[in-house]
Amino acid sequence: MRIGALANRAAACAAATGLALQPLAAVAQPASAPIELRVDAGRAGPTISPDIFGQFAEHLGSGIYGGIWVGPDSPIPNVRGIRSDVVQALRAIRVPNVRWPGGCFGDNYHWRNGIGPQSKRPATLNPDWGGVIEPNSFGTAEYFDFLGQIGADAFISENVGSGTVQEAADWFEYMTSDKPTTLAKERASNGHPAPYKVKYLGLGNESWGCGGAMSPDHYVEEMKRFARFTRNYNPAQQSGTSAMKKIAVGWDSGNSDYTDAVMKAWKDKVWSWDIDGVSLHGYTIPNSWEKKGPSVGFGEGEYAKGINATLKMKEWIAKQSAIMDKYDPDKKVGLYVDEWGIWTDPNPGSNPGFLQQQNTLRDAVIAALNLNIFMRNADRVRGANIAQMINVLQAMILTDGPRMVLTPTYHVYHMYVPFQGATLVPVSFAAGSYAYGDMHLPKVDAVAARDTSGRLWMSLVNVDPTRPARFSVSIGGLRARSATGEILTAAAVDAHNSFAAPNQVAPRPFAGRSSGRQIAFDLPPKSIAVVQVR
Ligand code: AHR
Repeated sequence: MRIGALANRAAACAAATGLALQPLAAVAQPASAPIELRVDAGRAGPTISPDIFGQFAEHLGSGIYGGIWVGPDSPIPNVRGIRSDVVQALRAIRVPNVRWPGGCFGDNYHWRNGIGPQSKRPATLNPDWGGVIEPNSFGTAEYFDFLGQIGADAFISENVGSGTVQEAADWFEYMTSDKPTTLAKERASNGHPAPYKVKYLGLGNESWGCGGAMSPDHYVEEMKRFARFTRNYNPAQQSGTSAMKKIAVGWDSGNSDYTDAVMKAWKDKVWSWDIDGVSLHGYTIPNSWEKKGPSVGFGEGEYAKGINATLKMKEWIAKQSAIMDKYDPDKKVGLYVDEWGIWTDPNPGSNPGFLQQQNTLRDAVIAALNLNIFMRNADRVRGANIAQMINVLQAMILTDGPRMVLTPTYHVYHMYVPFQGATLVPVSFAAGSYAYGDMHLPKVDAVAARDTSGRLWMSLVNVDPTRPARFSVSIGGLRARSATGEILTAAAVDAHNSFAAPNQVAPRPFAGRSSGRQIAFDLPPKSIAVVQVR
C-alpha cells in the first residue's frame, strides 16, 4: 500500500504541476557526461532480505527511556507506556526487527530485573552508558508489546559476558515455552499466556571487547554452550523458515580472527549446536576514534571524509565473505551487520555516554550507500541493524519530551521500503569520480530490484555535493514508459531537521524523462532518488 502511495503521490504531483516525466528539481545542466546505466530487468539476482532494514535499540541514553518508553501515566500520548507518535512513525518504515537490549548493555542485562509488576522491579546501574540508573521499566513484556505495536520481529542479544548459560536458557524458556512449566506459568501470570516468538538470538555482543574481551578460541567454546542450551520452545518455531536463527559474534573491528574461528568451528561442528549467522559491526568514523568529528556545522571536507569512511563497508563485507566462503561455499551461514552507522562527536552539552548526535543530509547519503552495499551482497548479507533507532548515533527519530522529529536517515528508510524482500536486478555503470583533496570517491551509486509484486524499482545516488549527475538508463527486458518516485536533497551537506524546523530535509516527488527504452534522470548534488519504473 505504501509503495503504491509513493508512486501515486509522485504521479499526482507531476500531473498537477504539468511536469509529468520531467525532473521536478531545478537542476543546472551537468558539467560531465551522462552516466550510462544498464538495467537487466529480465535477470534476477538474490532476494534482498527485509531484515537488511533492521533496527537496533539499546538501553543507552534516551534510546529506550524517553524515546520509546514514557510510562502509562505520561502526558505524552502512549499505549501501555509506549509513545504513540514513535510507533506511528516506525510503522511507516516497516521495521522488520529490533535488536535489543544491547549492545554492550546486553552483556550486563539480567532479564529477571525486567519482568513482573513495575513497582517491584529493581533499580540497577547502566555502567557502560553514563553510569545512570536503569529502572528496568522496559523489560521483556514491554519489548514484545512495542514489537507488536510496530509490527516487527524480535532479535534478542543474550548475556554471554556476565550471565550464565542457565540464566539465558531460563529466559528463553520463560519467553517461548507453551508447556505449563513454572517459568511459562510465570510469564502467563505476568500477562502473556501465549509463548512469544523470537526470530533472532544474538550469542553475545562484541565478545572481543565490551562483551568480555575473550580470545576467539575462548569465545567459540562459550558460544557453543550458549548455542546448544538457549532453546526456543515455541511450537510455531520448531522447523523451516520460522525457526529461530542464532547469530554468533564475528569481526572485531580491524581483525578477522573471530569470523575465522567461528566459521572453522561451524564447519567442524557436531550435531549438538548450530548457528545461522555471524555478525559484523562496522561504524563510520569520519576522523579518529578520539575526535570523530561534528554531527552538524561542517562543510564539504567533513562530508567527503564521512563518505570515504563509510565506503569501507564494502571492503569489510568482502573480507568477511571471503573467510565465510572458505568454510561455507554454499552460503548457508549469513553475514549480519547488526551494528552500523555514522558515529560522530556527541552533541555539545549532552552526556557523552548518551551518544546523542544530529542527523544530516550527509547521513542520509551514508544510509543509502550502505543499504545499497548490503543489497548488492544479498547472497551473503541477510540482515543489518542500524545503530540506533531513536536518539542514539545515526537515529531514525529524535525526541525531546513530547516533541519528535524524523531525521534524513528516516526518510531514506521510508523511500527504501519497496526494496524489502525484493529481488536484486543486475545493473552496470561506470560511477565516475568525485574528488576532494586527495580523496577520489565514486560520484554516483545505483541499485535496481523487483518488489514482491514484480514492479521494478531503482535507487540512484549522487554523492557529489557540488555537481549534478545525469543518468541515462537503458532497461533490457522492459519497455519503460515512466519512472516516478521521490528524491531527498537539501541546500547544505549538513542540512538537518530540528524540532523548530522539522522539514528542512524531506522527500519530494521526482521523475525521469522517458524515451522508449531509455530514461534520463537529473539528480541534483548530494541527493538520493528512489523511483518505480513502469
Ligand atoms: O551502539 C553503541 C555501542 O557500539 C554498542 O553498545 C556496542 O556494541 C558498540 O561498540
